[in-house]
Amino acid sequence: MKKNLIIFGTRPEAIKMAPLVKEFLKHNNKFHTKVCITAQHREMLDQVLSFFEIIPDYDLDLMKPNQNLYSLTADIITGLKPVLEEFNPDYVYVHGDTTTTMAASIASFYSGAKVCHVEAGLRTFNKRSPFPEEVNRSIAGSISDYHFAPTNTSKQNLLNENVSEKNILVTGNTVIDALQFSSQKVTSPSYSDEEVENLKAIADDSKRLILVTGHRRENHGQGFIDICNALKQIAIENEDVQIIYPVHLNPNVQKPVYELLANIENIKLIDPLSYPAFVWLMSKSYLIITDSGGVQEEAPSLGKPVLVMRDTTERPEAVKAGTVFLVGTNKSKIIEEANNLLSNEQAYLKMSKLHNPYGDGTACDSIVKFISNL
Ligand code: UD1
Ligand code: UDP
Repeated sequence: MKKNLIIFGTRPEAIKMAPLVKEFLKHNNKFHTKVCITAQHREMLDQVLSFFEIIPDYDLDLMKPNQNLYSLTADIITGLKPVLEEFNPDYVYVHGDTTTTMAASIASFYSGAKVCHVEAGLRTFNKRSPFPEEVNRSIAGSISDYHFAPTNTSKQNLLNENVSEKNILVTGNTVIDALQFSSQKVTSPSYSDEEVENLKAIADDSKRLILVTGHRRENHGQGFIDICNALKQIAIENEDVQIIYPVHLNPNVQKPVYELLANIENIKLIDPLSYPAFVWLMSKSYLIITDSGGVQEEAPSLGKPVLVMRDTTERPEAVKAGTVFLVGTNKSKIIEEANNLLSNEQAYLKMSKLHNPYGDGTACDSIVKFISNL
């Protein structure tokens, strides 16, 4: 029986790896699968584990307040050593581009396991944007034996780096598998969710909803100050709009956001939401403003226009389709584009078309079949 170890550490990795964990567990006649979390994130990770009902076999419990990249990287590598030695997996699965991804791929390579990279091949070709993710995913890519690329564009990036074609599989993004699972669960008659009920109480039905998220390290400091000032002006200029902003727990985000945006009547700052509540809120939004990677993939599937507060994106598919638009952290650009979508119906309709460049929800099934056939 092949032994699998699935390693992740942050909220987005957990959302995108949860359906893979479930798919491998369905095939427990062929695979012995264990889950290890670094807990690079704690509360935001636990929210996801609880929704997907995943109980990790190993929990390194590493998160420290306002942690830095140096000690986090070292702690992940040394923390994984006993896990890898005890379980001795044949295959280790890492996801995307976080510090957990990069450090876990190195540790797994040291253990002798084959490394499988899920969401492989995304590139901006700018090593400082996003920081440090572009370098993290390049390192994971150069170490990995098998590459599960979400799109043909990401496959081509890997081919250009001389990765052998037989080791690349285009799967779609596992986030669509997660989104479908979540939507089905939330819409089932037996499902009840206190968070969604609370959101219904907060959301003002008479106003158009702008949903905001943000956390990128390269936006910390002046970037977040400019973002907050832009949101403030959008809220003040548009009384028929309500901004709901679930604020990331990173102190470098919490501080400017609460200092600059608390006490504005039509801006609601709330704690990070569990995945189903966030999906519900995305579906109710008129417009999404974010620097998130995952949200750029989910929103086109829900037909929601996205303004991306970044200068670069490794997800060009939705930009090409016209459902996602890069505005950076420039205050006037954010205000100008948001106001355009609020006032120009043609521009809004053009951006709000349903589009699904990131797959059909069968990514995890394809990955399991690929590994079964090795
Ligand atoms: C990390 C990833 C980023 C990913 C993002 C998703 C790195 C370098 N960064 O950024 O690629 O897009 O997660 O959200 O891997 N915190 C809490 N509770 C939590 C989570 C975070 O309190 O559940 C606070 C802690 O003070 C922690 C800090 O946020 O030290 C920063 O967490 P960290 O994972 O280092 O960076 P993120 O900005 O979350
Ligand atoms: N998300 C969530 N609750 C929130 C905000 C976001 O569940 O309050 C989900 C969102 O649907 C997406 C993922 O978290 O799947 C994105 O996480 P984040 O923006 O932190 O990371 P990134 O995708 O940029 O790495």
